[in-house]
Amino acid sequence: MSVASPPRAERPETPHWWTAPDTRSVLVLWAVFTVLGVVFALTVPRALMGTSASTTMTEVERTFTVFSVAAAPVAALVWAIAVHALWRWRRKGDWTSEDPDGPSIRGNAWATGSWIFGSAALCLFLLIWGLAALAQVDSPAAAAEPLEVDVTGQQWVWSFSYPKYGDIETDQLYLPVNRPVVFKVTSDDVIHSFWLTQMGVKVDANPGMTTTTQTTPDRVGTYDVRCAELCGLLHADMETTVHVVPRRTFAAWVRSQGGTP
Ligand code: CUA
Repeated sequence: MSVASPPRAERPETPHWWTAPDTRSVLVLWAVFTVLGVVFALTVPRALMGTSASTTMTEVERTFTVFSVAAAPVAALVWAIAVHALWRWRRKGDWTSEDPDGPSIRGNAWATGSWIFGSAALCLFLLIWGLAALAQVDSPAAAAEPLEVDVTGQQWVWSFSYPKYGDIETDQLYLPVNRPVVFKVTSDDVIHSFWLTQMGVKVDANPGMTTTTQTTPDRVGTYDVRCAELCGLLHADMETTVHVVPRRTFAAWVRSQGGTP
């Protein structure tokens, strides 16, 4: 036996939220800001990061671009709502409208559902992309015999030695182009951070510990080696140069240092 529910109070006819002028204005702003955001993501970060001189840096830049492009529509939606709200509901004399807030989207399954599933899909995509890029960057050097370089930081210089090539020790890093290189990084005193700026390699140099990392330089040129960990008075001056050279030049350099290539 069911009791008939009392009749609901008559509600005034309200327009659908998705045809409201407010929604259209937000959608237009969203589209404009998304285009601006995507253009920004495709150009500015890459320009700011400068030359890419290794396979690692190429992967880092690609990942950075993908993440920035994916973030653009999300940021654009927030800006669109904020800009529209600031303009539309700015104080302009007395309120005259009966319903100054417009139609509510609370309880709208389509709006909440698409927000939840859209966000979830985006996060999942970025997670998978990020893990794949990390695996790519972290994978052991390719089948080709990698070059081994021991890197030592001390206040406030870097030194490099090439254990496979005899007793070479140098304060300028030389690398042959297109050959995978494995760095074994340590420190003689405090914690430093070995940073090959244009190669996307940055790893801590810890005393009493050896940290291994790798990359493949893929562009001949002269690039920066810096310290990226505050390590004392002259931290800012703890920098040197990495020369990426053709293989023959590298072999000649090894010989000039008294080693055997
Ligand atoms: Cu070494 Cu900062």
